Amino acid sequence: MSVDGGNMTYREGAEKYYDLFGAKADAPFYISLAHRYGDKALELGVGTARLAIQLARDGVETWGIDNALHMLKAAEANLARESHEVRNRLHLKLADVRDFNLGERFGLVYFPSFSFDHLIDRKDQVAALRAIRGHLSPDSVYAFDLAYVPEIKADSGWFVQRRPLEEHRMVIRTGFHRTDPEKRIMSMDLWYELYEEGRMTERYHEGGEVYIHTPDGIKHLLKETGYKIISWYGGHEEQEFTENSEMMVIVARQA
Ligand SMILES: C[S@@+](CC[C@H](N)C(=O)[O-])C[C@H]1O[C@@H](n2cnc3c(N)ncnc32)[C@H](O)[C@@H]1O
Repeated sequence: MSVDGGNMTYREGAEKYYDLFGAKADAPFYISLAHRYGDKALELGVGTARLAIQLARDGVETWGIDNALHMLKAAEANLARESHEVRNRLHLKLADVRDFNLGERFGLVYFPSFSFDHLIDRKDQVAALRAIRGHLSPDSVYAFDLAYVPEIKADSGWFVQRRPLEEHRMVIRTGFHRTDPEKRIMSMDLWYELYEEGRMTERYHEGGEVYIHTPDGIKHLLKETGYKIISWYGGHEEQEFTENSEMMVIVARQA
């Protein structure tokens, strides 16, 4: 269930296999920012708590919001396996990034895994950035990443990925993507299939749309909503951003 849909479904079921395909090396970047900005962080779209748990393990008081109840349930199940200290340091809440008020301020608010791209409409992007700003103090930062596509073309295609599990089980993820260059929207369908001893035993579908931002577009959006950009990288290892970068990793603060 999702609070009111959002633009990506993250349907119930698929969260079981989500992290298998979502492995990323972004944790050190967010952990180091969290330490630099006061050890109190908020993750937007916390998902299965893949990242939030790593921050909490590193001593950061971490909050996470998500608008999908089943994602939060998966996060809670993952958290239940952690130590008492980590469990006490991580707070998970059902909330929509476009309209939330936790009554708290954070040293770091972060929106990882290209999740800001899921907000398609400009009014949703503006609403989210304003709500986020209300959770920052003058000394704190908002960090997020976005897909970077230098030249957006009308295209579509299939891909297949395979991940082994223990005991003769494996998960196959098949995806179909289609890009509309005029609207700058990429739509995606994903099917997860679980195979046990060669037979398919479970199948889940999820899908949705993402908006492909331009660097100028995101600069305007941040300016309009009262932010000042302090860093702009091409990756989570703070690489220089170039035309060949696959992402924009941005750190901003209140203007
Ligand atoms: C790409 S996943 C990222 C999960 C996690 N942050 C990670 O990096 O592993 C995006 C998450 O954002 C959540 N989400 C999407 N739209 C949202 C919204 N409007 N408000 C809150 N969460 C949202 C989804 O339910 C999903 O769990």
